[in-house]
Amino acid sequence: MTPFDPETTTFLIAGPVRIHPRVLRAMSMSSLNHRGDYFHGIVAEIRELLPVLFGAKGHQVVLTGSGTAGLESVYSSLVPRDGRTLVVTNGNFGERTDQIVRRYSSTVTTVSAAWGEPLPVAGVRAELDKGDVKAVCVVHNETSVGLVNDLAAIAPAVRASGALFLVDGISAVAGIPLPIEAWGVDAVVAGSQKGLAAPAGLALVHLSDRAVAALRPGTFYLDLAAHLKSLEKNDTPWTPAVPLFLALREALLLLREEGLEARLARTHRLAEATRSAVDALGLELFPDRRFASDTVTAVQNPDGMGDAELRKVLERQYNVLVQGGQGSLTGRIFRIGHMGIADWPDLLVTFAALERVLAKAGRGREPASSLRAIVERMP
Ligand SMILES: Cc1ncc(COP(=O)(O)O)c(C=O)c1O
Repeated sequence: MTPFDPETTTFLIAGPVRIHPRVLRAMSMSSLNHRGDYFHGIVAEIRELLPVLFGAKGHQVVLTGSGTAGLESVYSSLVPRDGRTLVVTNGNFGERTDQIVRRYSSTVTTVSAAWGEPLPVAGVRAELDKGDVKAVCVVHNETSVGLVNDLAAIAPAVRASGALFLVDGISAVAGIPLPIEAWGVDAVVAGSQKGLAAPAGLALVHLSDRAVAALRPGTFYLDLAAHLKSLEKNDTPWTPAVPLFLALREALLLLREEGLEARLARTHRLAEATRSAVDALGLELFPDRRFASDTVTAVQNPDGMGDAELRKVLERQYNVLVQGGQGSLTGRIFRIGHMGIADWPDLLVTFAALERVLAKAGRGREPASSLRAIVERMP
């Protein structure tokens, strides 16, 4: 097997995503005094840039820790101890939310759909109608099944109920439109390694005024009130992951240069091209096409081809990395991430390799049909 070389690998897993050389260079610096003026200046710049990421102003926090740290910070300090919390699940990360929330509340109602099924809107509305729900926790983009949850369909009911609206936006932010203010979202968690295309290891959290007013002490390390207080002085309560903050600033600058709207539009175009290319190969998407995610496309493995025959061959022979399924979907689906700085050459190489793998397995279609489908969608 060719040794893994990030420089020559076509890297389209569902995050972490490829990192721009400018972001890589930004973090290669010796240690800084995280209590000194230079680092305070970096934090100040990050604070100014965060609204570009979320597309909204508000109270915004950077936490050292992966996306799950951001989720834990939100659920531990905003899920009420003495009121009912609604968790919606239709994939692996919804179920993860359920597990986290249950650590902090014993009054949880879970409204579930099977993995990959659309958001159970009627079930959510029925629970909200009972009038005692204090918080609603939902994943915007279910990375595990390549499905975007139609939050617009539940947002007015959540707002009308008065419940806090807490959204896992880890694989959605900077990839799928999330109009925080229009939908009345109270907390959004983003992960540095997805649409923002920074290295893994930071969680970015947006909070509404309402959410800040409702904060109660959660975990010590991830105490959002403590982080907000320190950030007002361009500081962090504990030692932050300094190199990751440097990378974050550069990734945010890149996002500002491209523009959030332009990044969302580019991601959408890449997703449409990916779906067309999947069609051209005669493969099937995993979720209902109407809810197919713009950041991650989940595709059903052709009959008789598991990971060993498909994904592993792509990696071993063509240096193309896509991601497998999780849980019971292992070997049944594969997932192509196309967020962050992923671009047309990544798709062309990936589908050229995929066509060859299928053709060699006797499942070829007209040669280059998926490539034509992509090229036709290029700007
Ligand atoms: C929707 C969603 N939620 C939560 C997570 C967990 O994030 P992390 O692995 O950064 O802790 C992921 C990771 O892929 C995700 O896609």
